[in-house]
Amino acid sequence: MEPVLKVGVAGLGTVGASVLRLLDHRRDELKAACGRSIEVVAVCARDKTKDRGVDLSTVTWYDDPVALARDEDIDVFVELMGGEDDPAAAAVRAALGEKRSVVTANKALLAKHGTELARLAEASDVSLSFEAAVAGGIPVVKTMREGMLASRVDRVYGILNGTCNYILTRMERDQLDFATCLAEAQRLGYAEADPTFDIDGYDAAHKLAILTSLAFGTEIDGEAVYVEGIRSIETADLKAADELGFRIKLLGVALRTDGGIECRVHPTMVPKSSSIARIDGVLNAVAIDGDALGELILVGPGAGGDATASAVIADLADVARGNVVPPMGIAAHRLEPYPRARMRRHSGSYYIRLSVADRPGAFASIAGRMAEKGISLQSIVQRRQPVGENGRADENEPSVQPVVLVTHQTTEEDVREALAAIAADSVIASEPQVIRIERLDDTTPSARREKNDVS
Ligand code: NAP
Ligand code: HSE
Repeated sequence: MEPVLKVGVAGLGTVGASVLRLLDHRRDELKAACGRSIEVVAVCARDKTKDRGVDLSTVTWYDDPVALARDEDIDVFVELMGGEDDPAAAAVRAALGEKRSVVTANKALLAKHGTELARLAEASDVSLSFEAAVAGGIPVVKTMREGMLASRVDRVYGILNGTCNYILTRMERDQLDFATCLAEAQRLGYAEADPTFDIDGYDAAHKLAILTSLAFGTEIDGEAVYVEGIRSIETADLKAADELGFRIKLLGVALRTDGGIECRVHPTMVPKSSSIARIDGVLNAVAIDGDALGELILVGPGAGGDATASAVIADLADVARGNVVPPMGIAAHRLEPYPRARMRRHSGSYYIRLSVADRPGAFASIAGRMAEKGISLQSIVQRRQPVGENGRADENEPSVQPVVLVTHQTTEEDVREALAAIAADSVIASEPQVIRIERLDDTTPSARREKNDVS
C-alpha cells in the first residue's frame, strides 16, 4: 500500500468545508479506489475562530496560504480561496515551484494565469487539476482533456453559471424579482463571494476561457471573451421569449469560425425544443461538438459545496493514483496563441425590444434604418401599453410603446449600426434591449456535416 496522500487545504468556505466533510465521509471508499488514504493534514483560512462544522483539532492551522503551500509535510496543495491574484496566485506558484501538485476550483485565477501555471506544473512534472473550476460537479474537464482526444472540437457552449441560471429560472417560473432570486442564490451558497462576477457574466467568461483552451488547444485568454450579464433582463423579455418559442439563458459559446475563434457570454434566446432550454435552476450544461463524436451534452449541478467538492476530490484521487496529465490536455508549450474573431463579425438573428415614441412615422423610420443595413425582419410585434403604465394618465396622452423585432440572420455590426441610427432619429425613449438568438438545431457543425454527408 502506498503511503498516505497528505493534503493541505487553503480556504474553508462553502467548498473547502465540504471537501473536508466528504473526504471524511468517503474515507474508506477512497482508500479502496486509490490504493492509499487521502488525509487533510493542514489548513488555512482567515478566521481561526469560525465554526465550519468540521473537526480541525488534528490539523495544522496556517494564517498564510503561501506558508501552507510550502509546508514540506504536504504532498498536494488545494486552493479554495478564490480571487484571480494573490494570495491564491502566489500560493499556487509556491506549491508548483516546490514540485507539489495543485488542485484548485479557482477559474478566475486560471483565466488570468492558467497558461503560465500550466507551464510551471509541467516544468515541475506535477499536476495542476481544476475539474471544479468549470461547471461545478460536472466532470467536463476530464471529459474534454482525456475522453475526447479522437475528436476535433468545432464548438463548445453551455450554461456555465448556476447563479444566473437559478435567477432566470425563478424569475420566469415564479414571477420573482431579480434581487429576491439573487439573495436566495447567495443563501444557498451558489454565488461567488462577489456576486457581480456571476450576474455580470465574468464567472461564466472565466469558465468559457478554460473550455476554449481545452477545446481548441489555445492559450487561455480570459480577456478575449465578449461578456454581457443578465442585469438588463426584464420580465417583459422572459414573457416575449415565451411567446416567440424561446427561453432566455446566459450562454457561453466558443466557436471555430473562418475569422478565428468566437468566444462570447451573453443572455441568449434558445428554442424551447432544445436540450439546453430545459436546464433549470442551479444546473449547468456543457455541449461539446466534436467531429468523431457528434454533440455530447453533460448536465449537472454547477455550484454548491458538495457538488463542487465532489470534483475537487476526483482530482485528489487522480493525484493519489499518480495520474499526471498535461493540465490543458496537450503540453503547455504547444498551446497556440488565441486567434480571436471580432464580435462585430458575429452572424446570427436578434431579438430587439424598443420603447418607441407613439407618433406617426416612428415605425417607418425604424423599418427604414433596418432596411438600410440590409436587415430582414422575421417579425414585428407592437403591444399597446395599458393606460396607467409608463406615466400615461389617459389614452390621449402621447406615450411610448414596446415594440419587439426579431431579425433574420444578420451581423452584429449591422445591428449595432442600425440601432445607433434609430437612436439618432429620436424615435426611441430608452436603450434598446438586444438579445442574440441561437437556434442550436441543424446549425450545429456536426449536424451540418451530417447533412453534407447525406446530400
Ligand atoms: P467562500 O465560501 O467565500 O470561501 C473562501 C474561503 O477562503 C474562506 O474560508 C476564507 O476564509 C478563505 N480565504 C479567503 N481569502 C483568504 C486569505 N487571504 N487567506 C486565507 N484564507 C482566505 O468561497 P467558496 O464558494 O468556497 O469558493 C472557493 C473557490 O471555489 C472559488 O475559487 C470559487 O470560484 C470556486 N467555486 C465555488 C463554487 C461554489 O459553488 N461556491 C463552485 C465552483 C467553484 P474565512 O472563512 O476565514 O473567511
Ligand atoms: N458562482 C458560481 C456559479 C459557482 O453560480 O455557477 C460555480 O463556479
